[in-house]
Amino acid sequence: METRQSITKVFGILTAGGDCPGLNAAIRGVCRAAHDRYNMAVIGIANGYRGLIDEDVRELQPKDFAGILTQGGTILGASREKPFKSQPGDVEMSEEKVQAIKEHYRKLKLDCLVVLGGNGTNTTGYLLAQEGLNILGLPKTIDNDIVGTDQTFGFHSALAIATEAIDRLHSTAQSHNRVMVIELMGHKAGWLSLYAGVAGGGDVILIPEIPYDIKAIGRHLIHRSQSGKRFSIVVVAEGALSVEEFRMDKKERKKYREQTVIPSIGYRVAKEIEVETGMETRATVLGYVQRGGIPCATDRVLATSFGTAAADLLAKGMYGRMVALIGNGIDSVDLSVPAGKTKPVPVNHYMVDTAISVGTCMGTHRI
Ligand code: F6P
Repeated sequence: METRQSITKVFGILTAGGDCPGLNAAIRGVCRAAHDRYNMAVIGIANGYRGLIDEDVRELQPKDFAGILTQGGTILGASREKPFKSQPGDVEMSEEKVQAIKEHYRKLKLDCLVVLGGNGTNTTGYLLAQEGLNILGLPKTIDNDIVGTDQTFGFHSALAIATEAIDRLHSTAQSHNRVMVIELMGHKAGWLSLYAGVAGGGDVILIPEIPYDIKAIGRHLIHRSQSGKRFSIVVVAEGALSVEEFRMDKKERKKYREQTVIPSIGYRVAKEIEVETGMETRATVLGYVQRGGIPCATDRVLATSFGTAAADLLAKGMYGRMVALIGNGIDSVDLSVPAGKTKPVPVNHYMVDTAISVGTCMGTHRI
């Protein structure tokens, strides 16, 4: 392959926040294109921002990013270290952590730092850019909640796993004439539950953006039962909340949830359904299975495209940006766009309407 000109000669790469399928595909995409096409050197940083604080780094060679396209997790390791925040149990102050990052960035002679992560990671990237470092972000998360990109990689793999889980619950729900509640991840956004709920034919879907009314859910489930449908599937996003909680102020809600969300929201909703309808109800929390394993084809393609686009930005010296999917093309946005924000499901999103049109209850009568 012909070597092209590049402004970036050496860059560091890290994966931060919760892992997800597609991280290795993205690492491979960035590193292959940067190394083979532009002859850049790559410094792999271990365990997210933690590795840059501790200078836990090594130069990556082509053999390191070969054969990883299909692997789950991240070859670099990840952590939830947020250097701009002092966290419980921290031995260093946040200023010391930021100082260490800046010092090691300079010592390693990095022209840029490429950060693969969600909202927190890209926000930290933005703050480091404000401190004078060259940063490029890539949007990954199963939550699909990053502002500035139409999609994040990791989402479609989690969606496939969650949909299969719902399919499996269908048969056992049918055998026992039960209501089956499944709690999915998504942090404060309902993307994963909405999409998996539609893909799996959920009868009720509860997302944080639409506070639920247990009476409306009860009426829907009783109506289904009376019309001969003797089992139901209820998909609950981990961030779902009731209309009563929605009306509470932050402090009140926190206290209320500490008492009622035991062990988690899925169990609470299952209990509420049993009390409201008298129907036998079971809860399943899918948990980390959603984030594990190999990336699906869509995520491999998206992560690879994001990765090679990042290499092109590095070559041009276009720093301070996050690679993004916009419409049908790969583009980039200023890091200030995703910084400090999350992207909720708009209540007028076409998928909400799609769900309602096929008879799914979104937890309320008011939409
Ligand atoms: O952001 C991804 C995610 O899996 C969320 O869906 C979930 O709320 C959170 O991470 C779990 O975080 P942790 O890995 O720190 O338990």
